[in-house]
Amino acid sequence: MLILGIETSCDETAAAIIENQGKEIIPLSSVISSQIKLHAKWGGVVPNLAAREHLKNIIPIIKKTLDNAQKKLTEIDLIAITNGPGLIPALLIGTTVAKTLSYLWQKPLIGIHHIEGHIYANFISSNINDKNFPLLCLVVSGGHTQLVLMRNHLEYEIIGETLDDAVGEAFDKVARLLGLPYPGGPNVSLIADTYPQEKNIFQIQLPRPMLKSPNFNFSFSGIKTAVLYSIKKQPEKLTDQNFIAEMCREFQTAVCDVLIHKTILAAKKYQPKTILLAGGVSANIHLRNELAKTIKKDLIGVSFSAPHPKYSIDNASMIAVAGFYRWKEMNTKKVGSIFKLKSSWQNMETNANLKLKTRL
Ligand code: KG4
Ligand code: ZN
Repeated sequence: MLILGIETSCDETAAAIIENQGKEIIPLSSVISSQIKLHAKWGGVVPNLAAREHLKNIIPIIKKTLDNAQKKLTEIDLIAITNGPGLIPALLIGTTVAKTLSYLWQKPLIGIHHIEGHIYANFISSNINDKNFPLLCLVVSGGHTQLVLMRNHLEYEIIGETLDDAVGEAFDKVARLLGLPYPGGPNVSLIADTYPQEKNIFQIQLPRPMLKSPNFNFSFSGIKTAVLYSIKKQPEKLTDQNFIAEMCREFQTAVCDVLIHKTILAAKKYQPKTILLAGGVSANIHLRNELAKTIKKDLIGVSFSAPHPKYSIDNASMIAVAGFYRWKEMNTKKVGSIFKLKSSWQNMETNANLKLKTRL
């Protein structure tokens, strides 16, 4: 079975083809066109500019994806498209193209929640399979920070989430406060990771919000505000590269401390077999390493998975894989047959605030 995935929810135009053979999922091709350079001068993503860029790139990218996989559109069995959450002008380009392809070529079309895609990125080129449930997913992206319990495929229970900023958003805001270029997360983390561990000139100590709260929620705006106050007090420190590096390191450590602590706490309560990391911030090396270490130390018999770095950031392979599992479930449970799915383009909606929920 061949699945074409399409993703245009934010600033990456992406298409990918995966093939399912028995129990195996084989990524055949993945093409991503990033708009980072376009948005960098504005310090963040401008929705209308993103949409124009998606419009320009989407057809060539789908064509390139098909060419790279040496497949024709007629051979595709299913199209999976991100239909939310995200920027509406951006989402509309992808969904309109996907609906058109579905209608013209009579291909079933499935809408995928962007975060569902990030979670399913863990099922590409990895050992994760049906035996790993229940899963506890730590979702960390630019728009989301959630702890999601999955007792089975496509079943989502949000057991905790951020009460204010998402973790990626906090990274990006702190980067801006420190005068670092967009996108901030990777820059903050690169500076933090390459600064000598033993150097501690400024003795910076940021808070670890909600560390002791008896639930699984998060709050990151307080850490960001602490960075702001520290800079406001002595703005001249911004010219000191050591200060910037120490601030990046302490910020990254503070955020990861909280994320890891809450994940372990939730795992002790819900007893998952496996903990998954998902979303753009899963590319963060400190978070990946420290979470893996802590799970090994504190949770006996619990395995850990993080997506391959190329599937951590926004991509369409993850959308295609999630599409495959939804298609499989719909057929097994006879919720909708493949024939019904052929008119699925008619019901496809785009929702900027789509909620992650069990939809079967
Ligand atoms: O999942 P994603 O690509 O887009 C959303 O769905 O939001 O996540 C993007 C976010 C951005 O905030 C970016 O700064 C952050 O992920 N990010 C990182 C790293 N790589 C990307 N944050 C910290 N460390 C990284 N290495
Ligand atoms: Zn994302």
